[in-house]
Amino acid sequence: MSVFWDRKEKPYVMLLFLMPLFWMVGSLFLGRYFPDPGKALMNLSGIWASVFIIAVLSMTPIVKYMSLRVVSRYRRFVGLTAFFYAIFHLITYLVLFAGLNLSWIVSDLLDKPYIYAGVVALMVLSVLAATSTKSMMKRLGKRWKPTHKFIYLAVVCVVAHLWWQVKSDVTVALWVSVFIVPLLSFRFNQIYFYKKYFKKT
Ligand code: HEM
Repeated sequence: MSVFWDRKEKPYVMLLFLMPLFWMVGSLFLGRYFPDPGKALMNLSGIWASVFIIAVLSMTPIVKYMSLRVVSRYRRFVGLTAFFYAIFHLITYLVLFAGLNLSWIVSDLLDKPYIYAGVVALMVLSVLAATSTKSMMKRLGKRWKPTHKFIYLAVVCVVAHLWWQVKSDVTVALWVSVFIVPLLSFRFNQIYFYKKYFKKT
């Protein structure tokens, strides 16, 4: 196992994580998203950002219960990929959805309050991405861990972003919640039991 997972594989892992992007851009140019490429790309980019957020949250239980320590090496990589797809989602919104028209964006923001939940999630992801480097870890010291707990705020905002915009089709909101709710409760249970049984002794 360790022979394969010796970091030489990193470019391949990166290529794998970028496959959805290549697929989306390729399909766009092949006209597969016609007649509404903006809507299709908004949904797909948002879904892939959510998939990588779910992957990041799954890493702690995977390492803990399956003893797959090798997985934790990729935590930063997976987190940055989630951020990357969220930025792609934002760019799609600004360019394909809004046509870079500022007054249209302002009226859309007044019309769709769920966008604010997405913006907060993206802002938190930006802070986490900016502080994910080794030098920032050193600079923040003990404050690094509490800072990165803000991932839970981002996750809650993503779930709010999805349910808030539901009109009739709940598929995406439901699928994302099916993964996120157990992962969040796993995390909070762990913190609760740790405080109850170990912190005071
Ligand atoms: C600046 C931040 C964001 C903006 C402006 C934004 C905006 C939007 C808009 C306008 C839609 C609806 C598209 C439509 O009408 O079909 C949407 C959908 C979606 N967003 Fe966001 N979003 C943001 C952040 C995020 C983040 C951080 C995530 C996840 C990590 C996310 C996940 C999704 C998903 C999965 C959908 C599709 C929902 C569905 O098809 O039911 N968004 N977003």
